[in-house]
Amino acid sequence: MSDASYVGLASISSLLGLWIAWWLYRFILLRRLRPNDPPYLPYLLPCLGHTGRFFQDSHQLMARGVKHFNDTREPFSIVILGKTYSVITSPLDATEFYSNTVTLSWDGFLNHTLHAFGVSPERLDVLWAQPTEATTLNPHRKCLIHLTQDLYKQHLLPGPTFSGLIDKYKASLRTLTSWKRITERHHLETSSSSHCFSLYDLCATIMIDATQLSLFDPVLFAIDPTMTDNMRTFTDQLWKLMYESKMLDSKEIKTLREKYTRAFLIYQRLPKEMRKEEAWIVTALIDQYKTLAIHEDDSAAMLVMVYWTGDANAYKLAFWILSYILFDKHLHRALVTETSVAVQDNGEIDMDYLAQSCPLLKSVYSEALRLRKRDLAFRKVESDTHIAGKVLRGGNFALVPVCQLHDDRSVFGSDANRFDPSRFEKNNQLTGCTSFKPYGGGKTYCPGRFFAMQEIFAFVAVMLNRYRVQLDFPVQEFPRPDESSLTLGVSRPLPGQDLRVNLTRPVDWGSEEAGGQ
Ligand code: HEM
Ligand SMILES: *[C@@H]1O[C@H](CO)[C@@H](O)[C@H](O)[C@H]1NC(C)=O
Ligand SMILES: *[C@@H]1O[C@H](CO)[C@@H](O)[C@H](O)[C@H]1NC(C)=O
Ligand SMILES: *[C@@H]1O[C@H](CO)[C@@H](O)[C@H](O)[C@H]1NC(C)=O
Repeated sequence: MSDASYVGLASISSLLGLWIAWWLYRFILLRRLRPNDPPYLPYLLPCLGHTGRFFQDSHQLMARGVKHFNDTREPFSIVILGKTYSVITSPLDATEFYSNTVTLSWDGFLNHTLHAFGVSPERLDVLWAQPTEATTLNPHRKCLIHLTQDLYKQHLLPGPTFSGLIDKYKASLRTLTSWKRITERHHLETSSSSHCFSLYDLCATIMIDATQLSLFDPVLFAIDPTMTDNMRTFTDQLWKLMYESKMLDSKEIKTLREKYTRAFLIYQRLPKEMRKEEAWIVTALIDQYKTLAIHEDDSAAMLVMVYWTGDANAYKLAFWILSYILFDKHLHRALVTETSVAVQDNGEIDMDYLAQSCPLLKSVYSEALRLRKRDLAFRKVESDTHIAGKVLRGGNFALVPVCQLHDDRSVFGSDANRFDPSRFEKNNQLTGCTSFKPYGGGKTYCPGRFFAMQEIFAFVAVMLNRYRVQLDFPVQEFPRPDESSLTLGVSRPLPGQDLRVNLTRPVDWGSEEAGGQ
């Protein structure tokens, strides 16, 4: 044996020795020393840990973890990009996760998200500082972050301002779903009475446009007409800003972030008379930014976040709901029958009827949320926290893989992975059960859930009743969801998966454009 290969062999064997020592420490010794810490799911490379698997398919990684620990559903730990994340999979522990707002903090995660949207980390403390003076809008001198959360609740839970928002959505939807607008938006001939569309495009363009028009003044379209079209790419790639790493190519998302920020820099400077049509919450927020002298770049970044929060999920859910409907003729007919009273020929919508008298629509919506809203809920562990007899260590992160709750066979039955349109109608306890968490829970329980539900109900009902919608050619494969951790919120269809649909306008409609804006 030559000297060189001897040295090579020696260093390989000492590396191997080191690796074995590390492995024994991490997976054997540590479990003895700290028996109450959530055990690590075994992995091969220090630091890198489960990173690769996590980004490839987080759902599968979680399922593997649960299986590895023999389905005891006790918390376990994984390592992503050098950081430890404790995984919570039992519904009872998840309830504790959502309700513990003291040591499992949303604030730490929010800090991280604000930074991802472009708020300068040096100025983050301004957003958490207590103002020196009380104002009418902020009588208890809350910091901007907590005030924003309060304003969302005031505005988006049913009440006077909520009704105003819904009225704006209805008016926008009515115009945007006219044949003239749909065909123009997709650069098609208005005079012909049927066209083929990508269903995903149709849901995205109409719903994102309608939501933008409900929240912001139409002048925003003039400032940047591409904002709604860019939302899909923006939300699909946002994870790259959340898990910032040099290994990721984040050029496109950073360019988009800059474009959105620039639009809101201009928007927030406009005098109020030029933003007359915006939602009450947006006016209130921009007023607060000015009162508290928030740096313009930061307030623009926060407005981008407001825009994204309001726009980034509902269109995806509507896509899945319509996909399920188009693959089930019986369901399609039943839903048209159930909802037709609520939609007039000119697109006028009775929202109360949809929300209160359409149990099948509601069930289909909940079932779609169960199967398609299954991403991860994160918290930062502020200090050692006891859950299920284990100690989550301060400084780490905790997460609930919502897919593990939504697939729970003990609650949803042995057919839990199947779409059953009337599952929630047959058992109305399911919506409130601890295994159904599409909108989170606890203090940060999504304040937009009523708005999201109504906008989806309205869009689906209008499309089904205003048009004849059918699969363009009957043999199409049902689109598969992207199950990786990469899309935040509702799963998108895997890139390239979509449905071609044929939209036909009924012949006897002459007056549909009469109600336009
Ligand atoms: C299908 C649509 C939607 C889904 C699935 C969804 C889901 C969620 C979830 C899971 C959370 C809580 C995260 C956690 O606690 O871990 C959340 C929070 C939030 N959502 Fe939604 N959301 C939707 C639509 C909306 C809309 C339309 C708005 C506003 C117009 C909105 C505004 C918010 C806000 C402001 C928070 C943070 C609450 C806080 O910090 O206290 N959401 N959402
Ligand atoms: C799971 O059960 C098997 C068989 O009973 C056992 O050998 C194994 O050690 C258990 N795994 C864990 C992580 O407890
Ligand atoms: C969020 O950031 C602010 C400002 O840097 C800091 O004071 C605060 O402790 C952070 N909050 C959490 C929960 O990490
Ligand atoms: C849509 O379907 C109708 C009825 O089946 C058919 O007459 C029409 O040609 C189709 N349109 C397109 C664009 O394929």
